[in-house]
Amino acid sequence: MSVAKKQYKRVTTKSLVEMKSNNEKISMLTAYDYTMAKIVDGAGIDVILVGDSASNVMAGHETTLPITLNEMIYHASSVIRAVERSLVVVDLPFGTYQGNSKNALDSAIRIMKESGGHAVKLEGGSEISESISRILTAGIPVMGHLGLTPQSIYKFGTYTVRAKEEEEAKKLLEDALLLEQLGCFALVLEKVPAKLAQEVAEKLSIPVIGIGAGGGVDGQVLVTHDMLGMTHEFNPRFLRRYLDLYQEMTNAFEQYNKDVKSQDFPNSSEQY
Ligand code: KIV
Repeated sequence: MSVAKKQYKRVTTKSLVEMKSNNEKISMLTAYDYTMAKIVDGAGIDVILVGDSASNVMAGHETTLPITLNEMIYHASSVIRAVERSLVVVDLPFGTYQGNSKNALDSAIRIMKESGGHAVKLEGGSEISESISRILTAGIPVMGHLGLTPQSIYKFGTYTVRAKEEEEAKKLLEDALLLEQLGCFALVLEKVPAKLAQEVAEKLSIPVIGIGAGGGVDGQVLVTHDMLGMTHEFNPRFLRRYLDLYQEMTNAFEQYNKDVKSQDFPNSSEQY
């Protein structure tokens, strides 16, 4: 059992800040449904992210842009029904918070009220500061997300590493400091150079959780389906695969197919 699992019966936004000050790394994984969330929570993962990556992973869209607020609420409420210990953070989907802080607050309130999620995550820095501030005024905890922000993929053009150039790195650091100042309880940094991510983590008192951001940050997040090896076509350098579930599941399905065709399944002990 991890130190955190023993220490925190329920992980809160406050626990994460404490973990940072105690030098205990924070673990975070995605989940979009009840069954997966139950396993992730039971394994002692500190934070479950109901990511808008559900748009790719669950619905097969090419980007995260199409997923709707109703769909995110459906995924988040399934996760919430399973969770006993982890902090559940829910992504605000594309188009529900940019440009209009009243919309942002309404979207965040719907997430909290209708799914029971514990916090929301928004992508972006200074350009969405009004939305973040307004959500925070309602007492809703906000996690920031900088670096590669997949909802802006059509602006970036590619999914390559962000903030390699000095100007973008400077803006990222300024945005990170702003998010902390506004009152965000944590920050995700996606696909940025490890040195820059470490510098951000050292400058901030809130936890910085990295994906493709190296080991100098306060925690790590991966998409669960990727780390389980269910998505063979996605091979970024930062991804460590803990299983080859794609192959394992294929083997099981092929065996079942054979067993049904050959009438090996069901046998006499598998019937009433
Ligand atoms: O939607 C998601 O899964 C995310 C993680 C990649 C951080 O935002």
